[in-house]
Amino acid sequence: MCGIVGYVGARVATPLLVEGLKRLEYRGYDSAGIAVMNGKGVETRKAAGKISQLESVVLSSPVHGTLGIAHTRWATHGAPTTCNAHPHHSCDDAIAVVHNGIIENASTLRKLLEDRGHEFRSETDTEVLAHLIEEHFDGSLETAVIDALRHVEGTYGIAVVSSRDPNKIVAARKGSPLLIGLGDGEHFVASDVSAILAHTRQVIYLDDGDVAVLCRDGYRILDVNAASQIDRQVSRIDWDLDMIERGGFAHFMLKEIFEQPASVENTMRGRLLAEEGTAKLGGLNMTADDLLHIENIVITACGTSWHSALIAEHMIEECARVPVEVEYASEFRYRNPIVSDRTLCIVISQSGETADTLAAMREAQQRGARAIGIVNVVGSTIARESDGGVYIHAGPEIGVASTKAFTSQVMALAMFTLKLARLRSLSVLQGRNIVQAMHQLPQQIQQILDGAPIIERIADEFKEATNFLYLGRGYNFPAALEGALKLKEISYIHAEGYPAAEMKHGPIALIDENMPVVFIAPHDSVFDKICSNIQEVKARGGRVIALTSRDEPALAGLLDYEIRIPETIDMFTPVLASVPLQLLAYYIAVKRGANVDQPRNLAKSVTVE
Ligand code: M6R
Repeated sequence: MCGIVGYVGARVATPLLVEGLKRLEYRGYDSAGIAVMNGKGVETRKAAGKISQLESVVLSSPVHGTLGIAHTRWATHGAPTTCNAHPHHSCDDAIAVVHNGIIENASTLRKLLEDRGHEFRSETDTEVLAHLIEEHFDGSLETAVIDALRHVEGTYGIAVVSSRDPNKIVAARKGSPLLIGLGDGEHFVASDVSAILAHTRQVIYLDDGDVAVLCRDGYRILDVNAASQIDRQVSRIDWDLDMIERGGFAHFMLKEIFEQPASVENTMRGRLLAEEGTAKLGGLNMTADDLLHIENIVITACGTSWHSALIAEHMIEECARVPVEVEYASEFRYRNPIVSDRTLCIVISQSGETADTLAAMREAQQRGARAIGIVNVVGSTIARESDGGVYIHAGPEIGVASTKAFTSQVMALAMFTLKLARLRSLSVLQGRNIVQAMHQLPQQIQQILDGAPIIERIADEFKEATNFLYLGRGYNFPAALEGALKLKEISYIHAEGYPAAEMKHGPIALIDENMPVVFIAPHDSVFDKICSNIQEVKARGGRVIALTSRDEPALAGLLDYEIRIPETIDMFTPVLASVPLQLLAYYIAVKRGANVDQPRNLAKSVTVE
């Protein structure tokens, strides 16, 4: 959700900033801009639309300088116009600000500033910051930023430059991720490591309340409240540049779908104990006693991560016999959830930055629960603020539609289940059976991927459909929800996921010859039941696409299209089912000409409430 990058050093800033923005474009893509110190003042270029628009602007009208800040926007306040694009300026154009987050008291501050004579040029909340910093400026940019931020309510990750204190970038964080990159005679600021990975692997993740001052030859981090200097640990990023590039695939989403044999393997690597039929998860920071002490589990997440939570609920209750509740993170803190010091809160997030999920985690912690994070992005806020957790190690996920993170989340949650269940009632033989099934999954996913051309042909048949229904039972009800979410977010086709047996309580009224119905029907414990649901759809003329795992006489003559997935134990059927559903959504979207990696109105990580 919006991306920030900034550079100070000896190199020409503009190409570095534009390159950084391109790597951040998945975070927001409705407008972009840069501000560079050109030796006399702050020079700005902006454009509505994609980064390529901004690139054309800077090519036709170059900006020269070795210090600058840049931003790609996902609109919250104000339409996605050039005028509302960041950076925003003070009245005298001496101060420029880029900002992620939301200033909640922006209208009050704007009124106060207007009364003091400030003239605003955009509809954004961010512009308030530029004028507020101008109001407090007295020679030092960092002091003005700190003074200004004391009046601000809301969330921010900001980078600020000024021609009145020209050799530095001041960055500050509260609620929106920000890190600084350390180079040799140069420094970076970014909302995400991908923006600066080509130039440095040494980073410092800023904490809420941190204000960083970056110069060519050094940096300082101050505390926004005390204005005193603080130390922060330097982390080394072990991602490669080619991990954040498309590597010959048409889209990041396709690349990430095809990476799943490897990403699932990486999630499990070194963590499964085949002989003992359990898993080793050092990052949980929980002893066997702690795990046995748990009375109930609350899992909270959003979107795709919420779907993996539903699968975990099923796994944990079945194998470990601990009661689990799954909550939308966005709803959690607006109820009065029943949480005690014997509650374990599992927080699932690919990005580790989703505002609703973070807020839910903090709420649970405040009520006495221990929180563990199932997170992909190392060093993200949820990873740092949780009491322990499991990194899913899926590698960078750039496509806005989550794919490999989902399958890796389920694997991480399965390992957690295994560990918990083996301490309780699961036998060593049952544990070994689960471990064995897990080891087979990478190669089984590869088998599905090898059949991608069949799915592409099915996509061709259905690319004009206007509605889709996805039905599954048991472990595959969440898979149905996930299949429907993938289709709607990238192809803009209306799709609904439903528990198959619930269809007869309403959605059955929608079924006619124009309604494609995707059934997830592997040979599992509810297979016979789902056969009856398929018959109900066929009897009403619906077109059935079914995911099956073997030749099923019971389905003879009932399926219009069949996609075969390998057999596994029930709890892993959604992992295998999700892969063809990702491919189906992908191919349909591509055939409709949709922008698969950057679907309209969406952003990869939603850091506003
Ligand atoms: O980074 P998170 O896992 O916390 O993100 C949660 C959702 O925003 C995310 O899963 C979203 O639903 C994806 N676009 C789904 O493909």
